[in-house]
Amino acid sequence: MKPFLFHLPTEVLFGRGRIREFGARLDPKFERILIATDKNVALKSPAVDAVLSELQPRQVWLFQDVAENPTFENIEEGARFARDLRAEIIIGVGGGSPMDAAKGIALLAANGKDLSVYLSGEKPENPPLPVVCVPTTSGTGSEVTPYAVFTDVENRNKVGYANSSLFPILSIVDPELTSTMPEPVIIHTGLDALTHALESFLSTQAFWMNDILALHVIDVVLWNLKQAVRKDPEAMTKLSYASMLAGINITHGGTILLHIMGYCLTTFHGLPHGKANAALLPHVLDFMRKHSTVKEKVRKLDDLVEPFGGARQLIESFGVSTRLSSYGVSEEELGEFVKRVIVKSDIKITPAPVTEQDIFQIYRSAL
Ligand SMILES: [Fe+2]
Repeated sequence: MKPFLFHLPTEVLFGRGRIREFGARLDPKFERILIATDKNVALKSPAVDAVLSELQPRQVWLFQDVAENPTFENIEEGARFARDLRAEIIIGVGGGSPMDAAKGIALLAANGKDLSVYLSGEKPENPPLPVVCVPTTSGTGSEVTPYAVFTDVENRNKVGYANSSLFPILSIVDPELTSTMPEPVIIHTGLDALTHALESFLSTQAFWMNDILALHVIDVVLWNLKQAVRKDPEAMTKLSYASMLAGINITHGGTILLHIMGYCLTTFHGLPHGKANAALLPHVLDFMRKHSTVKEKVRKLDDLVEPFGGARQLIESFGVSTRLSSYGVSEEELGEFVKRVIVKSDIKITPAPVTEQDIFQIYRSAL
């Protein structure tokens, strides 16, 4: 059996209504708190109010300017705010963007240089501030990962950052807080969780225990996403659970070629992250079926999606087109996409030899 390292230091409070235990759970030593969220969550979700009422009588400030796909400048602005008010802890409330932003702000609030410096590999001088996550979507799994993804606007690139000191110290996964998700967000984030499980299952970093978790996640998402879209509370609870487990999956197995190819659809054409991955999924699976070193695992995935008519029909049954031309992608720009994909380190854990030509062909077959 393959040896492995399992490390997941985040305390997770999971269950409907458990946000009401937050105040009692959070160490009283944290008295100055910054909440990172976005305007949408602040306006429409009950989560921020629920967190605020739990944190009384501590001193709490709100940074509600997190962008969808947070940029370097956005994180630096939040970090300046955190430094000015001498925050001791950052709480990310929302989907992947606010949770990732909370991690970036926590890193920069304790370290003096620009975000790009640390993203290019320089070790931070100080540990980041502690982070707590309160997800309001069911997809990214950021509440249990040491990862954050930021957008480099200048180079139209999404850049991932991993640092084990960025695992949240505590995450409250309360599925009641996902009740205000609009239908497309349920679909896109649910499909993101599905791809997390699927990619970590195929990754060269996969190991038995992670595989079992991944297969469980795939099963839960496949058989509950339709009902979750109809706002069935039990199905939405299961999606929150699967999404959190898929976060554990990517912490240990990582994501592979699919995610890094999806980034270009977001930075060039504005596709939501989960939708970008979903659109490319059948095409990347086609490539893996022919060229990967894990063909038996690909067959297993094919079996799991077979009751839904296969990966393409599954994705399209949620109204997500798997043809990139329908999003305005053209053959002329694929060269630019390939340049950004081939340099990413996730190529190395993709279980197939991948050349620039391969990436180009996968994109082209998806047009
Ligand atoms: Fe993702």
